[in-house]
Amino acid sequence: MLYSEKVMDHFTNPRNVGTIEDADGIGEVGNAKCGDIMRIYIKVKDEIIDDVKFETFGCGSAIASSSMATELVKGKPLKEALKLTNKAVAEALDGLPQHKLHCSVLAEEAIRAAINDYYDKKGTE
Ligand code: FES
Repeated sequence: MLYSEKVMDHFTNPRNVGTIEDADGIGEVGNAKCGDIMRIYIKVKDEIIDDVKFETFGCGSAIASSSMATELVKGKPLKEALKLTNKAVAEALDGLPQHKLHCSVLAEEAIRAAINDYYDKKGTE
């Protein structure tokens, strides 16, 4: 089978879909080649990701990757969440086909962009 059960699960039943109206940080990234776009919203409390939501306009692997990535960073300190790699996302999904690995890269980038946006707004490095 091309996709793991976990990918299918997170694609058909994605976690943390939606937006956060008073988000502390928003990260939006896109892949120019496939045109897919991912947006991550975070709510931060005491330097911990208290809540996280995503909107993904893209392929099934991108949706599964964003769903898994939000699960992986929820409740984590910002510093730890910044270290999330696309490899960790793909592994947590029990793998992605080679030509779909860039979808998990989008998730890594979007999480990082949201955290950086939070730091920017707060005025810290
Ligand atoms: Fe581009 Fe999946 S095909 S994000």
